[in-house]
Amino acid sequence: MLPRLTTDTPERSPVGLGFRFALAETLLERESTNAEFIEVAPENYVGAGGKRRRLLDAATERFDVVSHGLCGDFSGAAPVDDDLTLALKHFLRTHRARWYSDHLCLTHAAGAELHDLIPLPFTTEAVQRAAGRIRELQDRLDLPLAVENVSAYVRMPGAEMDEATFVKSVVEHAGCHLLLDVNNVYVNSQNFGFDPDDYIDALPLDRVVQIHVAGHHREDDGLLIDTHGAPIIDPVYELLERTLPKLPQHPPILLERDHHIPPLAELDVELKTLREIAIRSAS
Ligand SMILES: [Fe+2]
Repeated sequence: MLPRLTTDTPERSPVGLGFRFALAETLLERESTNAEFIEVAPENYVGAGGKRRRLLDAATERFDVVSHGLCGDFSGAAPVDDDLTLALKHFLRTHRARWYSDHLCLTHAAGAELHDLIPLPFTTEAVQRAAGRIRELQDRLDLPLAVENVSAYVRMPGAEMDEATFVKSVVEHAGCHLLLDVNNVYVNSQNFGFDPDDYIDALPLDRVVQIHVAGHHREDDGLLIDTHGAPIIDPVYELLERTLPKLPQHPPILLERDHHIPPLAELDVELKTLREIAIRSAS
C-alpha cells in the first residue's frame, strides 16, 4: 500500500515527468502542466549547489517527488559505497521519500563503474546475491526499495530461468517492490521474441509501486534500443493500457525523456495521453 501521490481525482494513477536540468526552468515557469509529480535521480544532486540546487528546491516545493537511482549495483560483487549511501539517505529523508528505486542490473565490475546498465545472469545465485544487496540497502536507507526491470540487448550466459521468473524471484526473495518499466518489457519482448503480456502476467503485480514509460529507437537490423530519446509508440501505450487494470493499486506513471528533449509542450501531450489512459483504466 505504498503509492500515494496527489491527483485531481483520487482513484487513478498520477502521471509525472523525469526532472531534467534542460527542462527545469520551463517546467517551473509554466503555469499548468499535465505533470503531477517529478522523478529525481539523487546521484545528480548529492553535494550539488548553485543553480542546480535552487531549481531542484523550487521543483520539490511545487511537485510531489519520487527518487530513482542510477548506479546501485545488484550483482552484489562490489561493496556498498558508504559515503554515497549516507548522502542518499539524507537526500531521501529531506524529500520525504516513501520508497527508493533502482535498476535490477550490474553497474560495476572489477572495482570500476561501467556507466551502463548490464543485465544480470538469470541464475539462482544471482537471485540470492541481488536479494541480499537489496535487503542491505533497504536496511541502510531505512526505506522500502523497488527494483526496475531493465532493457537488454544480449542475454548473459548460464540462464536457469526466464527474465520474468528472475525478476519475480528477486522481488520475492528480497521482500522488495517492483518498478515496472513497460517500455523495457516491450523492448525486450521484441529483442528476444517473447509475449510482453505473458511476461507482465508472470510478475508479482501486487508489488508494483511505480511504472516507467518511454520512447526507444529501432536499429536497421530491427534491434530496439532503449534511448529515452523519442516519443512513446502506440504499442507501448497499448501495453500500458492492458497492464493497468491488472494492478491492485494505481501506481504513479513516469514519462522518461533523457535525450533529444523536445519543448515541454510536446511532453505535455504525451503526459495527457498517459493521464487519459490512467483515467480509462481506473474506471
Ligand atoms: Fe525506466
